[in-house]
Amino acid sequence: MGDVLKVVNVNKKFDKDYVLRNVSFDLKEGEILGLVGPNGAGKTTLMRIIVGLIKKHGGDIFFCVDKNKIKRDEKLLGCMIETPKFYSYMNAYQNLKFFSGLSGKVDRKEINNMLSFVGLSSEVKKKVKKYSLGMKQRLGMALAFLNHPKILILDEPTNGIDPDGIKKIRDYLKKLAEQEDVAVLISGHILAEIEKVCDRVVILKKGKVTEVVDMQEKNFDDKIFAFETDEMDEFMDLLKQKNIVIEDIKNNLIKVRLQKENLMRFIKDLVLKDINFYSVYEVKNDLEQKFLNSTGGDENV
Ligand SMILES: Nc1ncnc2c1ncn2[C@@H]1O[C@H](COP(=O)(O)OP(=O)(O)OP(=O)(O)O)[C@@H](O)[C@H]1O
Ligand SMILES: [Mg+2]
Repeated sequence: MGDVLKVVNVNKKFDKDYVLRNVSFDLKEGEILGLVGPNGAGKTTLMRIIVGLIKKHGGDIFFCVDKNKIKRDEKLLGCMIETPKFYSYMNAYQNLKFFSGLSGKVDRKEINNMLSFVGLSSEVKKKVKKYSLGMKQRLGMALAFLNHPKILILDEPTNGIDPDGIKKIRDYLKKLAEQEDVAVLISGHILAEIEKVCDRVVILKKGKVTEVVDMQEKNFDDKIFAFETDEMDEFMDLLKQKNIVIEDIKNNLIKVRLQKENLMRFIKDLVLKDINFYSVYEVKNDLEQKFLNSTGGDENV
């Protein structure tokens, strides 16, 4: 899969302060790439630079489709940055017709299909000033998806959307990526949500990329299991004997890296050695752990 977007050493200063420092990463065809970081990390600023809303910055943004470097183009990009602004005195259909018309042909059927897909069919005639936050977000998504862009840039798209709507959007993004090779850059604060949809996740802190997490790794044989024990010393001795990697220790909780098929053997060893443990579970949400490790963990997500 080729790269469709290359972010190369992007820097941005507001007044005297750098809010982005040498940010580089690639986005591949058919890939869903997450962008996470504490409030103020620079996610929205970076997305505004990528879509061309901020023109003055250091570094480069390259779009490469069909192996050719091409210019930024509305038909190539669909985006939703922060809560979208629509004309409040127009209804949903009129807004979509107006904004999608700016970037090319407007297809009435396509607009209606999209409005129905995002669950706004029954609200089409309502003026946007009467919309709730979630309804405005849904309309923003409809606009981003119109005209079949090759790249989607979505800044906290599910903010304010109910769980049913979130699942629908998640499934749709996966379908677009898998079946139509659409590339998606998506930011958000709900890590469990980002984890469900993304192939890789870029972690940003104070304008710098601190880590790029490959979510596919989670499907490899190694898993992380958490054990709760009040016999930590004995537990640690056994781990040492068995050469098992310790991921984290906090109070009575110890996280270890094991292949799933070795878990039963290790539990049997614990029982044979008479080492107490009260619970064991697979730690699924390790994006959260990586985020906390990578950002220092003392700030808002
Ligand atoms: N127009 C602006 N003028 C001056 N400073 C700005 C401007 N826009 C953003 N900033 C600053 O740039 C930094 C990054 O802001 P940005 O909105 O990109 O963060 P974010 O990661 O999207 O945060 P959040 O999670 O809260 O949405 C912040 O320190 C912010 O105060
Ligand atoms: Mg933001």
